[in-house]
Amino acid sequence: MSESGGEALSGPDLGKEGAASSDLRDGGMLLGHFNGEPVLLVRKEAAVHAIGAKCTHYGGPLAEGLFDGSTVHCPWHHACFRPDTGEAVNAPAIDPVACYTVEQRGGRLFVTGTTSKAAAPAPSALVPSSVIIVGGGAAGFAAAEMLRRQGYQQPVTMISSDADGPYDRPNISKDYLAGNAPEEWIPLRPSDWYQKTKVDLVTGRRVVRLELDQRSVELDDGRRLEYGALVLATGAAPIKLDIPGAQLPHVHYLRTLQDSRAIIAHAKQVRRAVVVGASFIGLEVAASLRTRNLEVHVVAPEPIPMQRVLGDELGRFVREVHEQHGVQFHLGQTVTSIAEHSVTLKNGTTLDADLVVIGIGVRPNVELAEQAGLRIDRGVVVDDHLRTSAPNIWAAGDIARWPDRYSGNSIRVEHWVVAELHGQAVARNILGHGQPYAAVPFFWSAHYDVVICYVGSAQEWDTVSVSGSIRDRDCLVAYRKKGKPLAVASINRDADSLRLQVAMERGDVKAVEAILHKQR
Ligand SMILES: Cc1cc2nc3c(=O)[nH]c(=O)nc-3n(C[C@H](O)[C@H](O)[C@H](O)COP(=O)(O)OP(=O)(O)OC[C@H]3O[C@@H](n4cnc5c(N)ncnc54)[C@H](O)[C@@H]3O)c2cc1C
Ligand code: FES
Repeated sequence: MSESGGEALSGPDLGKEGAASSDLRDGGMLLGHFNGEPVLLVRKEAAVHAIGAKCTHYGGPLAEGLFDGSTVHCPWHHACFRPDTGEAVNAPAIDPVACYTVEQRGGRLFVTGTTSKAAAPAPSALVPSSVIIVGGGAAGFAAAEMLRRQGYQQPVTMISSDADGPYDRPNISKDYLAGNAPEEWIPLRPSDWYQKTKVDLVTGRRVVRLELDQRSVELDDGRRLEYGALVLATGAAPIKLDIPGAQLPHVHYLRTLQDSRAIIAHAKQVRRAVVVGASFIGLEVAASLRTRNLEVHVVAPEPIPMQRVLGDELGRFVREVHEQHGVQFHLGQTVTSIAEHSVTLKNGTTLDADLVVIGIGVRPNVELAEQAGLRIDRGVVVDDHLRTSAPNIWAAGDIARWPDRYSGNSIRVEHWVVAELHGQAVARNILGHGQPYAAVPFFWSAHYDVVICYVGSAQEWDTVSVSGSIRDRDCLVAYRKKGKPLAVASINRDADSLRLQVAMERGDVKAVEAILHKQR
């Protein structure tokens, strides 16, 4: 092991000593380093590729991930990279990893230098004359980025009601809110990226109407813009609490970067906070405010936090983790009114609070689609190519309800990676790739040092089984309906979580069971 730039490098120096070719089996990965950078060798049949070993999303160690025969998966948030070009083909990573040249000499593999990425594919002649994207969040940004990455050269306009350009929304309830993430981590791209790539980003403007006959959208400043293809990626909005005092200035919701900044500004001046709702966002806010040393109470109607998504045992564990960090729960309770320095609960209890954050769920922003007569069913209904019921209109992210191959259900989920993957798939399909959307949902949620990963989608289940130990933070928790494992939550089982996702995407229930069974 050697050091470079403060980081330890593992495995052989692939430039000097190389690695024995026999140490790299077909389908295998081998970690080494070259010129002070971690490098991953990947073998597919006779071909050996070398790429940067550190994920470009948040630096996940690719050597601890999975090579499925075509892409290398990051163990942390499941981004995928092509071993031959380094391209980040699946979100949440966007930037490629470095790509290296490899030579075989005397039964050993040597990395000899870096190589440039494959050129963007030539777009087909049948592409739309322009693309308008409504929404500058995960799905909207991913669609714009992928259109340009695929070589699309016609106008791309992204219209966002948010004052800020696309940013890392999951971070605004986690490290950013806790004060541990610098401001420069938050934008998905620096502002000059939009000029360089000729993506016309319009922020602080709302699309108020779709005119399908004219193939145009109307903005809240009266402008009308015509489209060749339209992507609806309007996301979701927090459900508002309708109780006395909910409009007071110390009461916050959290959806945007501006919301997060407002909570931070407030948190710096006060000592006591109440979080209403034990959702993922509510609990992440609780954790971040505890990191800022505020006294935090969480009030929620359910008896166990996140019970509906994670079940009883994992939900109870999440509660314990928060309690160990000083969060005080008031479960089976609702807030009936909010005053300037307190909140009152249904049972009459009064809690001191100078800051209140409400996280009681979101509703998809489907109004535009609804007004335009698109098919709606608790979201915008799309087919397996993410096309809406109207010609040349696609939907992606939190608003889209799509046919999920693995579960066989039509689902709508509110996950960052799913929204990005939708955006990427829509871009490819607008350009004629004709690829059905087959990715199995994935999300992660961070509670202090506990990260829960979740693959699949179990909107309801009849049994929950635990492999390993939740308490020891080393487990797989499977949610089954009629015997079929629909989803698996995990803690510190990154490689298994990846293997489960790949097996689900192949529709291979036996392989899913085998991974779960092996753990018992
Ligand atoms: C605080 C927070 C933390 C989260 N953490 C996680 C996490 O850890 N893991 C996870 O998987 N998911 C997480 N999520 C959920 C995840 O962020 C969403 O699923 C994802 O952002 C959805 O992407 P989207 O593009 O569909 O919508 P969004 O990212 O919400 O983007 C929607 C965009 O549309 C714009 N818009 C809406 N209406 C209009 C209109 N009429 N005209 C123009 N623009 C419009 C909005 O301004 C916004 O730019 C979190 C969400 C929040 C709020
Ligand atoms: S660090 Fe690799 S996907 Fe997030």
